[in-house]
Amino acid sequence: MEILTFTSDKDAAQKAFEIVREGVESRNVSTLGLATGGTPVEFYKKMRQSNLDVSSITTVNLDEYVGLEKENPNSYHYYMEKELFSHMNFKESFLPNGMAKDLEAECRRYEKILKTHPVDIQILGIGANGHIGFNEPGTSFDAETHIVELTESTREANKRFFEKEEDVPEYAISMGIKSILAAKKIILLAFGRSKAEAIKEMVEGEITPSCPASVLQKHPNVIVLADEEAASLLK
Ligand code: F6R
Repeated sequence: MEILTFTSDKDAAQKAFEIVREGVESRNVSTLGLATGGTPVEFYKKMRQSNLDVSSITTVNLDEYVGLEKENPNSYHYYMEKELFSHMNFKESFLPNGMAKDLEAECRRYEKILKTHPVDIQILGIGANGHIGFNEPGTSFDAETHIVELTESTREANKRFFEKEEDVPEYAISMGIKSILAAKKIILLAFGRSKAEAIKEMVEGEITPSCPASVLQKHPNVIVLADEEAASLLK
């Protein structure tokens, strides 16, 4: 795991963008795995301000809440449209459908999409409890796309995006850890003091489902782009 520390999230986002641009321009990347939340916002800004031709690129997102319509401003469909898709000409973009009647069938459908579009570069954030995607502590490392019951701490952390905490969905569909590890390269972004414990556990702790991100120690091609606060507890 390579760890690079930056003085600002903007500099880290610039580095992430350069890695993606190099992959796209050299035609080594045809599928990009994407994340939502506060962390990748600067990275998406760099993407949309660039003139990168992404017309041959497919995107797949990590997760989506269960029960939110695509038009709901808190859905990840809406977030992706707003931050990225409405500004760039991607070939095609996939997210799990959190409104599917049969959610188990939706998980199988999504996993098939991932198998037919193997991810070349996956962008990840990290939860303060060490989650990646919505794989909460305790999730099996063998999990593929699945339905997740969000923990109280994750709902609490995400309530800032909603009007009321009760509005935060209780369930989500998420790529599993096995699905995430299938990516050829992973760029994990982490900003702020609230991520410092999780980053320390991920990098220096034992590999355990109690800190889902610790599994990334096993992946041969992970780069962590952190600001100084997120990296502040590393040895
Ligand atoms: C988002 C996702 C989550 C977030 C994590 C950090 O698609 O899968 O794992 O990356 O919850 O969220 P922020 O960036 O809002 O701190």
